[in-house]
Amino acid sequence: MEGRRLMKKVSFSRVYSFSSSHRLHSPTLDDNANLDVYDKCNNLNGHGHDYKLEVTLHATPDPETGMVYPLDAFDHAVNAVLQVLDYRHLDKEVPFFKEHISTGEVIIGYLWNEIKDRLPGGLLHHLRLWETNNNYFDLGKEN
Ligand code: NI
Repeated sequence: MEGRRLMKKVSFSRVYSFSSSHRLHSPTLDDNANLDVYDKCNNLNGHGHDYKLEVTLHATPDPETGMVYPLDAFDHAVNAVLQVLDYRHLDKEVPFFKEHISTGEVIIGYLWNEIKDRLPGGLLHHLRLWETNNNYFDLGKEN
């Protein structure tokens, strides 16, 4: 009976942080329209955020370790992705964001693809990206 209960799938989440600067500016809108859409986030010299990222894995715990996924492997996968963004100006220094507007919506999609590629198939379940204390974005299998 005990064994059967342990076979249930479990969600395991960890919270990470990174700091980046960016400027929201659409190349297909003129300067006035950009200012209307993005307001102060369109500031020519950019601005910064202390982002927080919640990463949730979902799996049956490994019967040998009792864990969904080892902590060090989890950290290794996520940190490899975040170190590309941390202390960078996204639009100027990260190739993907030279081509894509660095809104929270776009950043979380980028993070999903990059983190998923570094984890065993099907393990990544959900991301929540906090851009400010008031704004967050969700992406995952429940959405
Ligand atoms: Ni911003």
